[in-house]
Amino acid sequence: MELELKSVLEYGVTETTQVLNQGFSDYVVPIHIGLEQLFSMLRFDSIDVSSSRVVIRDGDAVGAALIARRGWSSRLAGMAILPGARGLGVGRWLMKQLVDEARERGDRRMELEVIEQNGPAVSLYQQAGFVILRRLVSYILEEPAGEAHPIDEIDLRVMGRLVNAYGLSDLPWQISGETVTQFGPPYQAYCHEDSYVAISSPESPQVTLRSMLLMPEAQKKNQGGKLLQGLFARFPNKTWRVPAIFPEEFGGLFERVGFEKEELSQVQMVIGLK
Ligand SMILES: CC(C)(COP(=O)(O)OP(=O)(O)OC[C@H]1O[C@@H](n2cnc3c(N)ncnc32)[C@H](O)[C@@H]1OP(=O)(O)O)[C@@H](O)C(=O)NCCC(=O)NCCS
Repeated sequence: MELELKSVLEYGVTETTQVLNQGFSDYVVPIHIGLEQLFSMLRFDSIDVSSSRVVIRDGDAVGAALIARRGWSSRLAGMAILPGARGLGVGRWLMKQLVDEARERGDRRMELEVIEQNGPAVSLYQQAGFVILRRLVSYILEEPAGEAHPIDEIDLRVMGRLVNAYGLSDLPWQISGETVTQFGPPYQAYCHEDSYVAISSPESPQVTLRSMLLMPEAQKKNQGGKLLQGLFARFPNKTWRVPAIFPEEFGGLFERVGFEKEELSQVQMVIGLK
C-alpha cells in the first residue's frame, strides 16, 4: 500500500469536500460539507487549505483532513477515511503526518474535538498522543418565557476581544474570542453588566448559543442567568440550543435557567508539540 499526501489546494477544494462527504457518509451525526459551508468554516474557524490534506492510496483519494491554524496552535477541524479504506492503518498514517507537519512548521500545540461515542476516532487520537482536556456538552430549551432583565446588544467584534482578554486561554476553538471576532450579523451579541453571549440569528425559530463570557464578579451575582433570562424574554417562542462545543463547566449555568442536557457530547483533546 503506497500512501502519499496532497494539499487541498493541489487536489481541489470541491474534490476534497467530495472525499470528506464520502468519508462521513456513515457518520454518527449527518454531515454534508457544501462549498458554502466550507467557506464559512474557512472564515470562522481559520481553516488553512494549504495545510489541509488529502491522502492518496495507489493513485486514488481515500481520506482527507482539514487543519485550522492560529498562532502556535492548530486544530484538526475534520478528518475522514473512506469506508472501504478503513482498518488498514490509513488514519494512523495520516495522523502521524499531520502531527509531524504541525511540529515542522513550528506549532506548539494541536487540538481537536471528537464525539465521545465515536470509539474508533477517540482511540486513534489517543494512539497519536492526544489527551482529553475536558468534556463538551449540549443542551436544549423549548420556548422559555424568560424574565425581563435589562440586556444590551453589542458588537460581536467587541465581545470577541473581551473573550480573548478574559476568557480561558484553552477554550474550545469554536467559542474562542478569535472565532467570535469573525462573526457578524445576522449573529448577535448581548450583555448584562459583565456577562456576554453570542447567538445565531434570533429571527430563526431555533437560536444557537455560539459563545459566552462571564467575568468572575458576574459568576457570583448570577449575571449569566439574568443575561440568558433577559434574552429569552426579548425573543419569545424560540427553541434555544447549546451545541456540544461548550465546556461541561458551563453546564450548571445552563441547567439553572432550565436547559435540558442532550445526548450528544464531545471531548476536547490536545497534544503538546514543543
Ligand atoms: C476514525 C477513522 C478516521 C479511523 O481511520 P482508519 O484508517 O480506519 O484507522 P486505522 O486503520 O489507521 O486505525 C488506527 C487506530 O484507530 C483506532 N480504530 C480504528 N478503527 C477502529 C475500530 N473500528 N474500533 C476501535 N478502534 C479503531 C484504533 O486505535 C486503531 O489502532 P489499532 O489498529 O492499533 O487498534 C475512520 O474510522 C473514519 O473515517 N470514520 C468516520 C469519520 C470519523 O469518525 N472521523 C473522525 C471524527 S472527526
